[in-house]
Amino acid sequence: MAKILILGANGRIAKLVETELLAKTSHQLILFLRNADRLKSSDDKREKIIEGDVTNTQLLEKALTGIDLVYANLAGKNIAQQAKSVVTAMNLVSVKRLIWISTLGIYDEVPGKFGKWNHQMLDGGYLETYAAAAKVIENSDLDYTIVRPAWLSNQDIVNYETTEKGEPFKGTEVSRKSVANFVVQLINEPEKESRHSVGINQPNTDGSKPSFY
Ligand SMILES: NC(=O)c1ccc[n+]([C@@H]2O[C@H](COP(=O)([O-])OP(=O)(O)OC[C@H]3O[C@@H](n4cnc5c(N)ncnc54)[C@H](OP(=O)(O)O)[C@@H]3O)[C@@H](O)[C@H]2O)c1
Repeated sequence: MAKILILGANGRIAKLVETELLAKTSHQLILFLRNADRLKSSDDKREKIIEGDVTNTQLLEKALTGIDLVYANLAGKNIAQQAKSVVTAMNLVSVKRLIWISTLGIYDEVPGKFGKWNHQMLDGGYLETYAAAAKVIENSDLDYTIVRPAWLSNQDIVNYETTEKGEPFKGTEVSRKSVANFVVQLINEPEKESRHSVGINQPNTDGSKPSFY
C-alpha cells in the first residue's frame, strides 16, 4: 500500500484513475484540487481532499508529507510554472516518483500529415508551454515518467500501445480510460518507465487526424 498524491484531482483522467485505484488497490489517496467543493471523497478511510493551486509551493510541500508517489494531471497556460512548483516542492521533501501527464507533439515527434495537422491545431502557446514544462521535469533529478497521450476520446475502451522518446509517435487518438489504465500500472509498478517519456495511442488509429475530427 502506498500513499499517492493526485494533483488536479478533478481532471477527467484523474477521476478515472481515482476510481480504478479505489476499486483495484489499497493505496491511500490525497486528492489535491482547486475549488474542492466540486469533489466528494468516495471513501473517507482511504481518501483525503486538499484544496489548493499547485503554484502554491508551500502548500504543495505540506501536502507531500508522507507521500510515496505524485501523479500530476494538470493543464493550463502556466503549466511550466506548475511544473517548477511541483519539482521544487518534491525536492524540498525528498519525494522522488512523479507521473506527469503531458501531450503528444512536445518533441516534434509526430510524423507525416497528422504531425502537420497537430502543429496547426496546437502551435501558438499549447505545445510550446507543455514542452517547457516537460523540460523542467526532465532536467530534475526526480524519477519521473512523462506520459504523452494522443488526442483524447471518452470512449469506454482500454486499448493502447506506447512509444518511447526518440521514436516516431504512433496513431492519432487514445481513450482517457486507456491513459488512466496506464497510469494505474505505473503507480502499481513504480520502477516502470522511470526517467522515461512515453507516448500512448490506440493501435490502428493512423491517419491525417483523429476520427472525431
Ligand atoms: N484533449 C486532448 O486531446 C489532449 C491530448 C493530449 C494531452 N492532453 C492533456 O492531458 C492532460 C489531462 O487531460 P484531462 O482531460 O484529464 O484534463 P482536464 O480534465 O482539463 O484536467 C486538468 C486539471 O488540471 C487542473 N489544474 C489546472 N491548473 C491547476 C493549478 N494551477 N492547480 C491545481 N490544478 C490545476 C484543472 O483544475 P480546474 O478544474 O480547477 O480547472 C483540471 O481539473 C491535460 O493537460 C490535457 O491538455 C489533452
